[in-house]
Amino acid sequence: IETIDAPIIIIGSGYGGAVSALRLCEAGKKVVLLEMGLNWEKAGIPFSNLLKPGKSSAWLKKKSIAPFMNLFSLTPFTGILDRLEFEHLNIWVGRGVGGGSLVNGGMAVTPKESYFKEIFPNLDAEKFFNHYFPLVREELKVNVIDEQFLKECPYYKFTRVGEAEAHKAGFKTMRVPNVYDFKYMEKEYLNEVPRSALNTEVIYGNNHGKNSLDKTYLKKAMETGNLEILDLHCVNHIKLNDDKSYTLNVQQINTSGKVVAEKIFNCKKLILSAGTMGTLQLLLHSNAVNNLPVHEKVGKNWGNNGNFMTGRNWVKPLSGGTGSKQSTIPVGGIDNWDDKEHPFFTEIAPLPMGMDVATALYLLINRVDKKGEVGYDTINQKITLNWDESNTAKMRENAKYFIRKMNNANGGTRSHLLFNNGFGADICYHPLGGCVLGEATNEFGKLKDHENLYVLDGSLIPGTIGVNPFVTITAIAEYCIENLIRQNEFA
Ligand code: FDA
Repeated sequence: IETIDAPIIIIGSGYGGAVSALRLCEAGKKVVLLEMGLNWEKAGIPFSNLLKPGKSSAWLKKKSIAPFMNLFSLTPFTGILDRLEFEHLNIWVGRGVGGGSLVNGGMAVTPKESYFKEIFPNLDAEKFFNHYFPLVREELKVNVIDEQFLKECPYYKFTRVGEAEAHKAGFKTMRVPNVYDFKYMEKEYLNEVPRSALNTEVIYGNNHGKNSLDKTYLKKAMETGNLEILDLHCVNHIKLNDDKSYTLNVQQINTSGKVVAEKIFNCKKLILSAGTMGTLQLLLHSNAVNNLPVHEKVGKNWGNNGNFMTGRNWVKPLSGGTGSKQSTIPVGGIDNWDDKEHPFFTEIAPLPMGMDVATALYLLINRVDKKGEVGYDTINQKITLNWDESNTAKMRENAKYFIRKMNNANGGTRSHLLFNNGFGADICYHPLGGCVLGEATNEFGKLKDHENLYVLDGSLIPGTIGVNPFVTITAIAEYCIENLIRQNEFA
C-alpha cells in the first residue's frame, strides 16, 4: 500500500473545495485535492446530451438517471451525475473535477437579504452583500441574458410563455443570472460555434459555454502551481491520530469503478468539501469504523432547500405551448416569496426533450418549516435520512396553490406525465445542512471537537436558503477560508 504525506488535503472539488484550494494556494500553501470523480478535461472525453445519454450521464449505473424519462441502458462508467436513494427522497449530486458545477443548470442566484439575515443571524449581512456576493459573482463569471435575444430566440419560447402565463395568473417574475456565457449562446444560435445549451447539453455536462469550476476557481488555483488534483480517488474513511493529524483510507478506481490501488494519505490539516451528503457520509462512517469524534450537532438541521418539482400539461395550449426547441439554461423565475400564505420561488425550467411535450416544468424552492436529520446505518455502512412527507407538506400546499392559479388563468392540468399525482416531492437537487456553521462547527467552519478538521461546503447552510444555493455556498466558503487563513490555521 502506497503512503503519501501532504500538509493540507481537501476532499472534493465542488464549490467549497474549489474556493478553499484557490485561497490556500494563493497564500503559498501546497494543497492536495482528492476527488472521486473523473477529470473530464484531462481525459478528453466529450459529455453527452440529454437525448443520447453516454459515458458522462451516470455514476457507475446500468441505466440513465435523469429525473424523468429514462429509457437508456448504459455500460457503467464514472459519469458526472449520481443519485442517492433514500426512503422518501432521491438526491442528485455531481461527481468529477468541478463537483456539482458540472451537472447543474448554472443558475447563479444571490439570496434575499432578509432571508439571509434570518438564516444566518450571526453573520455580517452587509459585508456579504457588499463584498462576498459581488466577489463570487465575479469569480464564477455570472452574467445575464440579453433581453432582445431572449425575446427573439425560439429556444426561449418556454421562458416567454412561462412568464406571460405567470403574469396572467398574477405572479411576479424575475430574470435569473447564470454562469453560462450568454454571448457564447448568441453565437451558437447563429451557428458560428459548436452548440451546447442549444444542443440539449446540461445535466450530463456542457462541452461549451458553461463556466463550471474547472474553468474558474480550479483553473486559477492550478495556475499558482501549488495545487495537485488527484481524480478517481475516493476517500473511504478518516482516522484521527494521537498527534492530532489525520490518516485517510483511499481507493483509487478506474473509469469502470474497479479499485486499482489502495492508498494511505497522512495530513496535518484536512478540509471536507465532499458536498452535504458526501461530508456527512465521511464523518458518520469514520465515526462508526474509526471512532472519529463527531459532535452531537453533526447530522442535525438538514433540509432539501424546499425543493419541490411540479409541472403542467396543456391539452390545448392557449399559449401555443413551449415548443420543441428549448435551451437547457433557465433564465426566468417566479418570485412569490413575499406572499405570507404561500411563500416560494420557482424556476421556469426547460424540458428539452427534442419534441413538443406540451408540458411546463417548475422547480419550486420553499421555506423548510420542518428540518430533517442525517443518521447512520451500521449494517449497510451508509448514512440514513430522517425525512418523510410531513417535511414537505407545506411545500405541497404551495405547489397546489401555484398550479391551481396558473391553470385557472391559462388552462392546463397537473402534469401526471412527469410525476405521480403531478407532484415530485421526492426530487432533491439542493441538499443542505448537517454540519451547520456555528452549530457543528465554529464560526468559520472548524469542526467542533477537532483541532485540524474543517468543513467547507453546502452542509454549513442550515437546510434552506430560499434560492438555488451555489452562490451562497461559494460566498460562505470565501468568508470561512479567508478568516481561517487570517487566524493562521494553516501556518
Ligand atoms: P459538490 O457536491 O459540488 O462537490 C462535492 C464533490 O466531492 C463532488 O465532486 C464529489 O464527487 C466529491 N466527493 C464526495 N465524496 C467524496 C469522497 N468520499 N472522496 C472523494 N471525493 C468525494 N445550484 C444552483 O445554485 N443553481 C443551479 O442551477 C443548480 N442546478 C442543479 C442541478 C442539478 C441537476 C443538481 C444535482 C444540482 C444543482 N444545483 C444548483 C445544486 C448545486 O450544484 C450544489 O448545491 C453544489 O454543487 C454543492 O456544492 P458543494 O461544494 O457543497 O459540493
